Amino acid sequence: MAHARGFLIAGNWKMNGQSSDGLSLARAVAAGGKGRKADLLICPPATLTKAAADAVAGSGVAVGGQDCHPAASGAHTGDISAAMLADAGCRYVILGHSERRADHAEDDAAVQGKTAAAHAAGLIAIVCVGETEAQRDAGETLSVISTQLRGSIPAAATPENTVVAYEPVWAIGTGRTAIPEQAQEVHAHIRSELAQSFGGSGLQNARILYGGSMKPGNAPDLLCQEDVDGGLIGGASLKAEDFLAIADAADALM
Ligand code: 13P
Repeated sequence: MAHARGFLIAGNWKMNGQSSDGLSLARAVAAGGKGRKADLLICPPATLTKAAADAVAGSGVAVGGQDCHPAASGAHTGDISAAMLADAGCRYVILGHSERRADHAEDDAAVQGKTAAAHAAGLIAIVCVGETEAQRDAGETLSVISTQLRGSIPAAATPENTVVAYEPVWAIGTGRTAIPEQAQEVHAHIRSELAQSFGGSGLQNARILYGGSMKPGNAPDLLCQEDVDGGLIGGASLKAEDFLAIADAADALM
């Protein structure tokens, strides 16, 4: 089955990896990343982005950051600008992850500012949205997702510079994955919301990734859903073998 938008298989290493294990993981992904149909991306912690970019150079595997500041530079102790990520070899940056929203009180407006900064620096922003378990139980999933999309994505976003990641908060790191039909329902809703709110820029053609306990065993069923264009993978991206097995599942569908 051909998949028109092409798959993006992205690893979010979160706060894991030092130069010893992190760079050998990057090298192993690079070795298994050559000649693939799916696009591969690793997002190591900020301390490793430059070395990881050097380690995967020439393999086709891209590197991304996990956050950036909305300002281009200045007095923001501890923060990293989008231009710094680009300078370190990043092509992507993950923004608005639920762990950032929870740990650092990032709201939609903050995520929108960061996304605009990423675009200004020439990065592709992976904007994360997702409902909590309580919101799902209350039947609010689709309205929560719509509000997050409208608030977190700048009006000028395009399918070339923006990827959306649907990550149900209750599925992250819990081993509980959205069943493929649940994921497809929300992904289809995201695409229609993008058409409605950002239709002028064609954002409904952006790639929409699923994240939340994606593993080699459940990846084929998730990736074969019509509106699932890849994965944003946490735990399983820390093992090259598992991450590459998910990439194999994507390649098999292309
Ligand atoms: P897990 O794959 O560990 O559930 O993490 C998903 C995630 O948060 C990726 O950004």
